[in-house]
Amino acid sequence: MSESKDLIYAGKAKDVYETEKQNEVIVTFRDDITAGDGEKKDNLKGKGHCNSLISSKLFEVLEENNVKTQYIQLIETGSMLSKKLEMIPLEVIARNIATGSLLKRFPFEENQKLDPPIIQMDYKNDEYHDPMLNDEITIALGIATQEELDEIRNITLKINKILSEFLKEKGILLVDFKLEFGKDEEGNIVLGDEISPDTCRYWDIETLETLDKDSFRQGQDNVMDIYDQVCSMIVDEKDIERWEIQ
Ligand SMILES: Nc1ncnc2c1ncn2[C@@H]1O[C@H](COP(=O)(O)OP(=O)(O)OP(=O)(O)O)[C@@H](O)[C@H]1O
Ligand SMILES: [Mg+2]
Repeated sequence: MSESKDLIYAGKAKDVYETEKQNEVIVTFRDDITAGDGEKKDNLKGKGHCNSLISSKLFEVLEENNVKTQYIQLIETGSMLSKKLEMIPLEVIARNIATGSLLKRFPFEENQKLDPPIIQMDYKNDEYHDPMLNDEITIALGIATQEELDEIRNITLKINKILSEFLKEKGILLVDFKLEFGKDEEGNIVLGDEISPDTCRYWDIETLETLDKDSFRQGQDNVMDIYDQVCSMIVDEKDIERWEIQ
């Protein structure tokens, strides 16, 4: 953490540090894991390392496809140099298959294919337990304008296409995922935060086995093995070797 300065924010699984540059931050991925609105907690050695490699790879894939992301570079394992964003308090969720909380709230069939995909936006606010929004509420709260919401939806659909195709090649079905966007200093909407097994549902394309945080939610005892497996499926071997924890 040689380049880091003050801690700006400590979240449930990541920290954000200031850097020498006003428009850059270091996002560090910790080993903490939480579920169920923060009620279930643990610390899994190596998880931060794994998530930083997976997120970096997926941000790179998106950048190659002209999606603006926070990603600048991984400076050491677990620490991602990123553009500093003014975060928009939305959890933008894309769903290709009906599972998880969607089944508790609506009469979808389990594992029903959702085509076109569902884009859902929740208010990122722990006090209110991240309630689902509609455009009118979001605009009335001053969270985003209609134009910004339209742009966020379009970018999310594009990201869904790019990542679904990329992960399919790696043997992974992208079931659903959560994104967070922010604005850079020029006011552009930029993808921030992370894209990892903490924030996505990945299923083995052949067996439909869980390859993400659902393993932790379900109380499995091999959660870290699963994260390591996904890391080796997504991240190039040379990068895994380069960033290997000593
Ligand atoms: N590029 C960025 N610039 C500034 N802040 C960022 C950037 N990317 C992510 N963030 C913010 O950093 C924080 C990361 O913390 P973390 O994800 O651990 O916890 P959390 O979002 O507070 O809680 P949780 O995600 O578990 O509900 C979040 O508040 C996120 O919005
Ligand atoms: Mg978060």
